[in-house]
Amino acid sequence: MTTYLSGIQPSGLLHLGNYFGAIRPQVALQERDGDKFYFIADYHALTTSDDPEELRGHVREVAISYLACGLDPARASLFRQSDVPEVTELTWLLATVTGMGVLERAVSYKDKVARGLKPNVGLFLYPVLQASDILAYDSDFVPVGGDQVQHIELTQDMAGYFNGRYGEVFHRPEALVPSGRSAKVPGVDGEKMSKSYGNGIWLFETGKRLKKVVGRILTDSRPPEEPKDPDGLLLLDFLALFLEPGELEDWRERVRAGGEGAPGYGHLKVRLVEAIEEHFAPARERREALLQDPGEVDRILERGAAVARERARATRDRALRACGLR
Ligand code: ADP
Ligand code: TRP
Repeated sequence: MTTYLSGIQPSGLLHLGNYFGAIRPQVALQERDGDKFYFIADYHALTTSDDPEELRGHVREVAISYLACGLDPARASLFRQSDVPEVTELTWLLATVTGMGVLERAVSYKDKVARGLKPNVGLFLYPVLQASDILAYDSDFVPVGGDQVQHIELTQDMAGYFNGRYGEVFHRPEALVPSGRSAKVPGVDGEKMSKSYGNGIWLFETGKRLKKVVGRILTDSRPPEEPKDPDGLLLLDFLALFLEPGELEDWRERVRAGGEGAPGYGHLKVRLVEAIEEHFAPARERREALLQDPGEVDRILERGAAVARERARATRDRALRACGLR
């Protein structure tokens, strides 16, 4: 049976990049045969968070977002990373076969240090914990956005170091990255959309606040009549995520042609606000219902953790035996 696994850090509210790059493709995998494990990477979030109440809130919000966006607990296990302690046990085993130099090259660590964050040891070990997440469930495929590919490659390396020393214990996973724009959704500033860059659009945003954040999408001062290359317009990149191909081509053509009938940036922004509100309307409704029923969310997380633990326990036992601890 094929196993799919992925995680999202509860380090803030989920944005359009998380949705198109991760949540939507992960939910779509429910239609395929195989086991699916999706979890909230709360231990990972702790490498950069120090506010317990905020973290608790974000954990719940990520769980509710997954469910509102269509995760079906009957077909996928949804759980909190910290409810499966076997994963942290594996982290230690993998840490003992991984060279310092390997982790020093990890982009997640290098980026945060480059942006002035004072790194803790947890941040340095981040890829080892992630490798344990993946290897604990014998995952075949890890559906993620393009920014996570290096982490999956590091996981393959760590599985190789361990297996090379102790025999075939871990199964080698592959990344599953969506094609096209969804692999790297831009933020309002044109850089990769990220919770930590302050350039995101929350997927449940509506009304005035949505207008305001869409208003921040980078444009220039060229007038509507001037013919433009549609490939160079960030606003059209956003619209491409939502519109049917026919309608998208129509906007692109009018931008390319310029003149009287060409839309201004304001028009494109109005259409984008509408498209976002419409796309997420059913999910917003489900979110409201789930907010009213915290007990149900707790039950889903508990059931998911029970299934996940059983699988992780078997891998942990295998790994302990292989390296002489049993
Ligand atoms: P962030 O960078 O905002 O902190 P996470 O690191 O928690 O987001 O990412 C959760 C999932 O969402 C991962 O699978 C990641 O690859 C995906 N993801 C994050 N940002 C983007 C983006 N801008 N485009 C596509 N996928 C993304
Ligand atoms: N590092 C991932 C991110 O920031 C989150 C994550 C933790 C993850 N463990 C994982 C993703 C295991 C895939 C598989 O998005």
